[in-house]
Amino acid sequence: MGQQGIELTGAPGQVGRIELPRGFELGVATAAYQIEGAVDEGGRGPSIWDTFSHTPGRIVGGDNGDVACDHYHRYAEDVRLMGDLGVDSYRLSVAWPRIQPEGRGAANPGGFAFYDRLVDALLEKGIAPAVTLYHWDLPQALEDGGGWRNRDTAARFAEYAALVHDHLGDRVRRWITLNEPWCSSFLGYASGRHAPGAQEGEGALAAAHHLLLGHGLAVTALRAGAREGQQVGITLNLQPVSAATSSAQDVAASERALLGANLLFTDPLLEGRYPDLARQTYASLTDFGFLHDGDLATIAAPLDFLGVNYYFPSRVRAAPYVQDDPALRTADDLGAEDVISPGEELTAMGWPVEPAGLTRLLEWLRDAYPTLPPIYITENGRACDDVVTPGGQVDDPDRVRYLDSHLRAVVDAIDAGVDVRGYYCWSLMDNFEWAEGYAKRFGLVHVDYTTQQRTPKASFNWFRSLIADQHGRDGRDG
Ligand code: FCB
Repeated sequence: MGQQGIELTGAPGQVGRIELPRGFELGVATAAYQIEGAVDEGGRGPSIWDTFSHTPGRIVGGDNGDVACDHYHRYAEDVRLMGDLGVDSYRLSVAWPRIQPEGRGAANPGGFAFYDRLVDALLEKGIAPAVTLYHWDLPQALEDGGGWRNRDTAARFAEYAALVHDHLGDRVRRWITLNEPWCSSFLGYASGRHAPGAQEGEGALAAAHHLLLGHGLAVTALRAGAREGQQVGITLNLQPVSAATSSAQDVAASERALLGANLLFTDPLLEGRYPDLARQTYASLTDFGFLHDGDLATIAAPLDFLGVNYYFPSRVRAAPYVQDDPALRTADDLGAEDVISPGEELTAMGWPVEPAGLTRLLEWLRDAYPTLPPIYITENGRACDDVVTPGGQVDDPDRVRYLDSHLRAVVDAIDAGVDVRGYYCWSLMDNFEWAEGYAKRFGLVHVDYTTQQRTPKASFNWFRSLIADQHGRDGRDG
């Protein structure tokens, strides 16, 4: 069944080979809180995700990241798996509360000891680490002081970034400041679905701005200590946004949705401005008093690359606001909702499968931003209801088809002139899927959370062949 799925979707070297450009990089991605566990070891302090996941009712099944994939202890086995897969690069995140348990002050040597072991093990296998500095695990001590609503958190982040860069910069070349600031600000401080679970208007918009400011200050810090060949970027979760119909209401709703999903982040980063629509749309919530002179120049510091995470597109129609009084709205209450068409294929997350959306998104970025730097797809993948067969296999043809079609969508964008340099699959292995807990599986490797047994899925074998094929064409070792 797995083999059949692989053939049908066109494995490399068979029908429908994927024609990636020479030198195109292939990798896998994870994030610290989703896999590491060992939350009390090596001097780590608590993060907002420890607090949130231990709050009853926040996470499906009452799950938390205390143990997760126990990667902190099993990293050597996980690096071996990546060596077997043959990836060029591994995108990992450093847990801020391991380096600064209280979010400020001197670095904790116990935190660096773990990342030293991990990075060295990767380099031994010829795998280039790509480090995300912030994948959502804010030290709880900083949240107690206001978290990302507080401008000081941006300065704290830049200090932390410099500490990590000073320590690992001799071995890590690719740096990603933030992962998906939309999620940190809008899921964290507007819908409350993620840590710290706040539901606010101005607070969420201030958080978004301070995340961007923290990014800009971190870029400046990393440039100041630049090592040869260093690349600095940021990862955004972006969507192609369209109106469900051509009615004036739906078109206006789709413009507000595009603002919230993309422009609020891409315009400051790539053009050094907030769009006029932002001031209008959020006028009842904030006067943008959090925006100080000089901030936008800091935020728009040139990037070596833009990381794009793509999962699904957004088709939008007008909908009633949740809160009638505009002054009391949360920042995500935009009078717009996503439409799913009947019969559309959905993942186990309920997300529509639309590979062409990735091509559209990349073309939109190219057309909208003349200064667009090269792009890495830093996450793409899907959740499936995977099961281990009695024979010990995991057949996941739907995931293979998803990855195959999305890589083809990247090739289409490259053919249309978009500069895409690499692709990281989300994820190396099943892990703690935030508010969804362990129920949603995104991995190329299945994890049994009772025994911590790792079982490579059929998609792992498919990706391994694809990488070997790509290396063969590049004249590199498989
Ligand atoms: C992204 C996150 C990542 C993972 C995937 C499924 O938004 O960056 O950690 O949870 O979604």
